[in-house]
Parts: sequence; C-alpha cells; structure tokens
Amino acid sequence: MLKNDLLLRAARGEETERTPVWLMRQAGRILPEYRALRARLSGFKELVETPELAAEVTIQPVDALDVDAAIIFSDILVVPEAMGLPYEMLEARGPLFPTTIKSAKDVQNLRIADPEEHLGYVLEAIRVTKRALNGRVPLIGFAGAPWTILAYMVEGHGSKTFSKARRLLYAEPELAHELLRKITATTIAYLKAQVAAGANLVQVFDSWAGILPPAHYHEFSTCYIAEICDAIPEVPVTVFAKGAYFAIPEFARLNCRTIGLDWNEDPRAVRAAIGNDKTLQGNLDPCALYGTAEQVQHATIQMLKQFGPHRHIANLGHGVYPDTNPDNVKVFVNTVKEFSVLAREG
Ligand code: CP3
Repeated sequence: MLKNDLLLRAARGEETERTPVWLMRQAGRILPEYRALRARLSGFKELVETPELAAEVTIQPVDALDVDAAIIFSDILVVPEAMGLPYEMLEARGPLFPTTIKSAKDVQNLRIADPEEHLGYVLEAIRVTKRALNGRVPLIGFAGAPWTILAYMVEGHGSKTFSKARRLLYAEPELAHELLRKITATTIAYLKAQVAAGANLVQVFDSWAGILPPAHYHEFSTCYIAEICDAIPEVPVTVFAKGAYFAIPEFARLNCRTIGLDWNEDPRAVRAAIGNDKTLQGNLDPCALYGTAEQVQHATIQMLKQFGPHRHIANLGHGVYPDTNPDNVKVFVNTVKEFSVLAREG
C-alpha cells in the first residue's frame, strides 16, 4: 500500500488535494550524495548494474527533495545492450556504442531480449527499491521510445542532427521498421517485467522526437509508442516526446494516461487541443532553476497557473541540469506543494 499515491491519482484523472511533483533526472549529479557515491565507483555502469547501489541513488532525491515519486536509477541505453549492442558511458562525454547498426545483417544479429535474463539487474533494483521505499511514494519505471533507441543504435553516440539515423528512414525504411519492431518487442517485455517487479507507473522517453518531420514521426515513432501503450494496461503510462508539438493531436488518441510537455509547449494550447481525457506533465524550463529563490518561486507559480490545478503532474520540461543548486530544486518542489493547495482553495 502506498502512503502517498498523489502521482497515480493525478495520472488517472482523479482529483487530488494538491499537485504531485517530481523531476526528470532527479537522481543524479545535482545531489552531493550522488556525486560522493559515484566517485567511489569504477563508473556509471557499475552504479546501474548493482541493484543495492541503484536503489540507494533512486531513493536519495525522495529523502533530499521530498518529491512525490522515485524513478528507478538506470538508463534508456540498457535496452540496446540487452539486445546485443553494448554501450559505454564516457566521463563528461556521454554514451558511446563501439559497434553500431549499419546493415540488415546487423539487425538480424540482434535478439529480442528476455528481461529476466538480460535486464535482471534493473528488475532486481526495482525490487530492492520497493522494499526500501516501503510505500512512501510510487516508483516510476521507464524505457526509451523505439525511435530514440534506434537513433543511438545507428548513430553510436549523441548528435545534434542524428543524420545517420534519419538517413536510414529515407534510404532503408523497411530495415528501419524491422529494427523498430525488435526494439518494440523488447521494450514491451521489459516494461511488463518492470511492472511485475513493482513499478507503479511507466514513462516512455522519446528524447529525439523533435528531429523528425511529422510524417516520419507518425510512421516511425507514434505507431510503435501506441503499441507499447496498448500492451501495458496494468499501470498508468506517460509519454514524453521532446519537441513533438506536431504529434500532440495523435497523442490524444494514445492509450496513455499522461502526456509530458517540454518547456517550448504552451500548456493552455495543448489542453485546448486535446480536451480533458489526459493528464499533462511538465514543463518548467530547467534554466528557470538558475535564478534566485524568488525567481524560481515566481516561475513555478506562473507554470502552475498555466496548467490549472487538476490533471497536472508538475515537473521540468526536460531533465534537471547537473549544475543546478539543489536548494533551488527544493524551492521548486515546495512552491508546487504550497501554491497548488492555495489554488484549490480558490
Ligand atoms: O533520475 C532519473 O531521471 C533516472 C535516471 C535516468 C538516467 N538516464 C540516469 C543518467 C533516466 C530516466 C535516464 C534516461 C535517459 N538516458 C534519456 C532520456 C531522457 C532524456 O534526458 O532525454 C537519454 C536520452 C539517456 C541517454 C544518456 N544517458 C545520455 C545522453 C547521457 C549523457 C548525458 C549526461 O547527462 O551525462 C546519459 C548519462 C546518464 N544517465 C547520467 C545519469 C545520472 C549521467 C552519468 C553520470 O553520473 O556521470
């Protein structure tokens, strides 16, 4: 039983006494206790692959920031690795795939991963975290959207343009679909296993949604996200697709409870476009947290007013930047808690 289930009630569209709040990337370098633990280890992967340590850093922001949810400490890139394409996480440079997907043969060589066999360390981290949380707040599971995962598998690393990945959609659309089908099958099995292990809600991150033209986005991303949503009826699903403004009307028809908005999106316009059947999550600009406490408070209240008190989960419009002062994150969290109660009292 959960002692604080605000997140789940808001996701399901129930009225809540206040707006729930958490932050994308809340577990990580903003917290001194994360950096201290991380400094003692060989690297990021040791943290991700050791369930007790992953559980510890998952819970750090619940203790330090008093957020209304924990998100399991892992990465979207564990999925390509489970399919047979290992990643490295380079210090201060980000992810790197030493081998990438270039041909039909490369796609054929990938497996549809078995979650217990190939991602058992994440499932164990979820089970350890659930026991340690003891019902304090819900635990969020996650995966990358198939398009964003394809983008890393083909490109091999982060990129401004992901032009190799986008090229594939034009040059070899059938091969792209074959790869997306394999990623989707792995992702569905993986998310179902996360739910079985104890995840109370799952979020699909389509971080590179915004670089596709609308017709390609529909054909190569929304279709597969829709399959994932349809396959996970057990818990509320959140779809966060950064930069996918053009896709909002089709997101309204997805079998998901919540749509995440980045900071470029206008909450009032999105609400007017999609009606009241979905919860919205977001969307303060992460840079707003670089201001003074008063400025953070002001920006947070402006954001809350745009969403209104119901069917809203407060968050940033993307992950919190690592050099953000945790005191300002606390101001953000506390302002959501205090102002959203006042807003309900009218
Ligand atoms: O608190 C949380 O949100 C949970 C943990 C989490 C991480 N990655 C930990 C992490 C989550 C949900 C992710 C998702 C993720 N990973 C995404 C989707 C969300 C987004 O930001 O768009 C993407 C695109 C990745 C891939 C990835 N992982 C990149 C590009 C990088 C390098 C950039 C960076 O922030 O350093 C990572 C590394 C990573 N993943 C870190 C953390 C805490 C930093 C590693 C470190 O400790 O040095």
